[in-house]
Amino acid sequence: MTSADPGTDQTDTFDIVVLGGGSGGYACALRATELGLSVALVEQGKLGGTCLHQGCIPTKALLHAAEVADAARESAKFGVKASLDGIDMPGVHSYKDGVISRLYKGLQGLISAHKVEYVEGTGRLSSPTTVTVGDRVLTGRHVVLATGSTPRLLPGLEVGGRIATSAQALTLDHVPERVVVLGGGVIGVEFASVYKSFGAEVTVVEALPRLVASEDEAVSKALERAFKKRKITVRTGARFASATDGADAVTITLESGDTIEADLLLVAVGRGPVTADLGYEEAGVTLERGFVPTDERCRTGVPGVYAVGDIVPGLQLAHRGFAQGIFVAEDIAGLAPAPVDEQTIPRVTYCEPEITAVGMTEARAREEYGDDVSTYEYNLGGNGKSQILQTQGFVKLVRRTDGPVVGVHMIGARMSEQAGEAQLIVGWEALPDDVAPLVHAHPTQNEALGEAHLALAGKPLHAHS
Ligand code: NAI
Repeated sequence: MTSADPGTDQTDTFDIVVLGGGSGGYACALRATELGLSVALVEQGKLGGTCLHQGCIPTKALLHAAEVADAARESAKFGVKASLDGIDMPGVHSYKDGVISRLYKGLQGLISAHKVEYVEGTGRLSSPTTVTVGDRVLTGRHVVLATGSTPRLLPGLEVGGRIATSAQALTLDHVPERVVVLGGGVIGVEFASVYKSFGAEVTVVEALPRLVASEDEAVSKALERAFKKRKITVRTGARFASATDGADAVTITLESGDTIEADLLLVAVGRGPVTADLGYEEAGVTLERGFVPTDERCRTGVPGVYAVGDIVPGLQLAHRGFAQGIFVAEDIAGLAPAPVDEQTIPRVTYCEPEITAVGMTEARAREEYGDDVSTYEYNLGGNGKSQILQTQGFVKLVRRTDGPVVGVHMIGARMSEQAGEAQLIVGWEALPDDVAPLVHAHPTQNEALGEAHLALAGKPLHAHS
């Protein structure tokens, strides 16, 4: 493996040229330089990509501000005298932007300390071994495509006025009075949750029969109940037909003929890959519905060209991108790493109540194993810390009868923090009997995960059957 000096190499040749500086791309660049490889990283926007600037980080900051608003609003429930006087959106943005800017500076520092050749501009795959940025041609012994995703729109919908995607909603300078969220997937339920906490009247319109339809059905039902309690209107099985942005409101028409008026229509119907007009197909890279299919080693069909992150079919999650980026760097460096296991990637939705899942839903497990599946649902009603927080929900386990746990599904406040242990359990194919003897700290919500395994191992403690 030869290594070019990225600072002085006149030929602009690198071990790896990474196209796209989001989670997948920068993780690959950092790991590759740690392994002694030379790397050029091309980014047209801001280092950190969607996750840092328009996705994970800003939305979770909004959700935290929403939690603070709820805490103030509901303080009397805990015997605390406080009141919610209102939401100061510029203040919310300055908090959110402060979080982003600290992380952004840190990331820029990492890239420069790792001596990654950072190239600003729009890159194009000009051949299987070159990326062209303006008049600069970067040659890579390997090229990693990591150009990410962008919000999808529906035919007839255009962003502008009262019609927005998550990208515009992140900088809105006021809280709209009435919000219609189109799409009850991850982004839809997170924004619905934020706007409700900020005081808006919220309606979620979802074409499928349930919210967060890729999650376990029990989780969808619990979320719908929780949203109903929070007075968020949920219209499932409702297909969007059209929207007209008028003088005073945007009017949304459903296929049933029903209309809803709102001050904001937030479109959250999925994210599409950013792969058009980047030279991919011309260089021989196959595209399927715009995505770049790869094998389990992130290889496209073109030798030396890899793809990671949201452009690769599968879960569009930052942590999947990190893992794939690291994997590719190690693979190129000859470390022969194990492929990223898509099945055990944790899925977290940060609405209130939060949802966390690892592995198979009950329905999926039944498709795979037929009747050889059993489940257990531990209600947070029996969990001390959840009672202290006044949250409701459950931990649901899906196991192969007499076999390992293949799915963990949780809903309730702060459940995102339980993702780690759930992943170890599913990833290591633990039996309930393996987990039951592990002592879980009391009083924590983590205890609920322990108790669910105790119950499934046949020795329930704080569990009502
Ligand atoms: P999504 O695929 O999760 O949900 C889109 C929803 O819109 C689906 O339920 C779909 O049935 C519905 N829909 C589509 N067309 C419709 C129509 N005409 N009328 C009514 N409903 C319609 O996509 P989403 O929420 O936009 O998120 C995009 C990606 O970003 C996801 O892959 C998600 O995993 C990722 N993401 C992850 C987050 C997290 O990990 N916490 C946070 C935000 C996004």
